[in-house]
Amino acid sequence: MTIAHDAPLGLARELAEQIPGPDHIRGLFAKVPRHRFLPDVMWGPGQTRYDRSADPDEWMRAAYTDQALITQHDDGTEGGRGVPTSSSSAPSVMARMLTAARIEHHHRVLEIGTGTGYNAALLASLVGDDRITSVEIDPDVAARARRALIETEFAPTVLTEDGEGRRVGYQPPCDRLIATCTVSRVPDVWLRQIHGRGRIVTPWAPTPGVPGGVLAVLDVNGDRAEGRFEGGLSFMWARGQRQAGHVAPAGSEADTVKRVDGDPREPWLDGDQALMLSLLMPGWRYGMRMEPDAEEPYVWIASTTCASWARVHADGRIEQAGKRKLVDQADQVRAWWRDRGEPDYTDFGLTIDLVRGHQSVWLREPSWALWSTKR
Ligand SMILES: C[S@@+](CC[C@H](N)C(=O)[O-])C[C@H]1O[C@@H](n2cnc3c(N)ncnc32)[C@H](O)[C@@H]1O
Repeated sequence: MTIAHDAPLGLARELAEQIPGPDHIRGLFAKVPRHRFLPDVMWGPGQTRYDRSADPDEWMRAAYTDQALITQHDDGTEGGRGVPTSSSSAPSVMARMLTAARIEHHHRVLEIGTGTGYNAALLASLVGDDRITSVEIDPDVAARARRALIETEFAPTVLTEDGEGRRVGYQPPCDRLIATCTVSRVPDVWLRQIHGRGRIVTPWAPTPGVPGGVLAVLDVNGDRAEGRFEGGLSFMWARGQRQAGHVAPAGSEADTVKRVDGDPREPWLDGDQALMLSLLMPGWRYGMRMEPDAEEPYVWIASTTCASWARVHADGRIEQAGKRKLVDQADQVRAWWRDRGEPDYTDFGLTIDLVRGHQSVWLREPSWALWSTKR
């Protein structure tokens, strides 16, 4: 099949039909041509490379497939590790966030993370150019988005700034704030940007180094923001919060070694279980590492609050060191979760309290706080 390049709106309509959500949100995806915001070379899932000059049909098809497309690695520097740092998010995820934001026609919206500018165009199409401000930290990414927006005749305001904002104050204040990068600490300025009551929709995760994150939908009322998580999702981290932190040392002597039946790495390798654990037990991160003569990698777990660590091996060995016995803690927490009927992500929520200076994760009700961090 050859795709007529002058008729992408047919493809946009097909994409819109596949997207969940209310009609007025899905309709945006039929109106705004995604391909006009994408660079000539981009990467899909599994690092599939789409090069417009090599295969324009495949590139165009990728643009109208419901998938995230990576548009920048390593903050645009050469010779990096190939870490994705900017993308056009998957349309169904964008639709989920736009729906969760409950944007009304008179609302002003602030977006953190302009990326390609596609979401800013969707927002502008929803409420009008003059009601949208979008902030992008990377000057090259912001410049590209501005060009794409001009070429597609959208005119939201795009600012090149750190949206975690040491500098407060986009004027006028907004009613809705949508972040398209993950945070573990919702910046105070996001609450301050909201005039009185409003809503923040942001990917959130307790710490970098746990898999994925959850969609936090927070109702803001003055100095307080509160709401449930609406399921899992994965976004790149906000630049100021992506520091990796501790890594369990290779080869160091453990305080305790025990052996269990089966492969104890299982719950750590399952993304859903590991994400759930991160909501229940704060202050850890993990990764995989190969031992010189081993056939399979082990899982290392490191505390982000002290020097404790653990190593979990395919042959059943569990090594732990430091005052936090991380694997034992995780086992206790999982048992606690099972005893409470295995609550889902959507049973958990987050409260940000600027006056008391803390952020807490709760289960079912804000009064049932599981853990808090100082802001
Ligand atoms: C997933 S992409 C955004 C997708 C975008 N909304 C779109 O429609 O294409 C995340 C973007 O957030 C930007 N970003 C990361 N940290 C930021 C920060 N502190 N302030 C503003 N932008 C940030 C990244 O540079 C990246 O372009």
